Amino acid sequence: MEKLKIMNKHMNKQILTDTIAALIASGKGLLAMDESVETCNKRFAELGIPQTEEARRNFREWIVTTPGLNESISGAILFDETIRQQTKDGIPFTEVLLKAGIIPGIKVDTGAKDMAGFADEKITEGLDGLRERLEEYLKLGARFAKWRAVITIGDTIPTIACIDANVNALARYAALCQEAGIVPVVEPEVLMDGNHTIERCAEVTEAVLRALFRQLYLEKIFLKAMLLKPNMVIAGKDAAIQNSIDEVAEATVECFLKSVPAAVPGIVFLSGGQSPQQASEHLNAMNKTFKSRLPWALTFSFSRAIEYPAIEIWHGQEANAAKAQKALYERAKYNSAARRGEYDASMDKELQA
Ligand code: 13P
Repeated sequence: MEKLKIMNKHMNKQILTDTIAALIASGKGLLAMDESVETCNKRFAELGIPQTEEARRNFREWIVTTPGLNESISGAILFDETIRQQTKDGIPFTEVLLKAGIIPGIKVDTGAKDMAGFADEKITEGLDGLRERLEEYLKLGARFAKWRAVITIGDTIPTIACIDANVNALARYAALCQEAGIVPVVEPEVLMDGNHTIERCAEVTEAVLRALFRQLYLEKIFLKAMLLKPNMVIAGKDAAIQNSIDEVAEATVECFLKSVPAAVPGIVFLSGGQSPQQASEHLNAMNKTFKSRLPWALTFSFSRAIEYPAIEIWHGQEANAAKAQKALYERAKYNSAARRGEYDASMDKELQA
């Protein structure tokens, strides 16, 4: 019995590292298409698209059937509703993705909620029943998962209590994923909201990452079998001084070299509200200038920075779907180039438009 347990553990490690190798394969990154029903509906409302299950299914159908998406995308993160949906012809989205060589993933947290007793701070929920949910998601085809913690910068926040509660949940989630043979994508997002400087973002991001890796270590997480999904180190959206592309790239790399163990195979950035071009340029500068000095692969796991231009073209109209797919394909391609350090803003059609 004990022998079998050890063997299973060993097999899980192999499954996990094989999944990771495919997810961070050269020139590839992740597509986060896991907006909750609420977030998706909010975006639809802004564009005058009906906020129905069928509209959301439609939206996800043209994304997963985008021709050539697998040239740049290795994995797609789905939402609970989406992982159960099918194309009009009755083919499950997970099957469409797998056929295209894209690994299905799943968002498993149940959202960032107000943290009791801590004004303006959030704690992410979703640990209850997670072991059973992971078992189900595995059966539905998911091979990796995502959990997003949210850290807000303010004059007196984040508090240590908020950081600790969130990294604790991230570590518990990662442990359950690894036990299930599902790769945990560990996402501690320090928000861009506010007028803080890049230095303040660096300070908070470093503190969060140090706390996170201490907790991951305590909870015996196998670092080679996880991916980190962090924010870039960047000034707040409302900050008076916005830094250059090279400054953001350098501050980000500097921060991670101080706080992320070399055993972690890959860092897959969120875009966090940057424009699609900015996100590509920052990722590109990091890979172009620093690649030879970095122990981890640096790639993308963007949502807004890949989807937004395409969703605006689609606008809920079937007739626009092919054009929207083309825009999605192109944005994914630009980020694939950025992952190799070969993106050039002059190649970017959005910028030329
Ligand atoms: P953005 O790239 O839009 O920040 O989203 C990434 C993500 O998955 C947030 O959880």
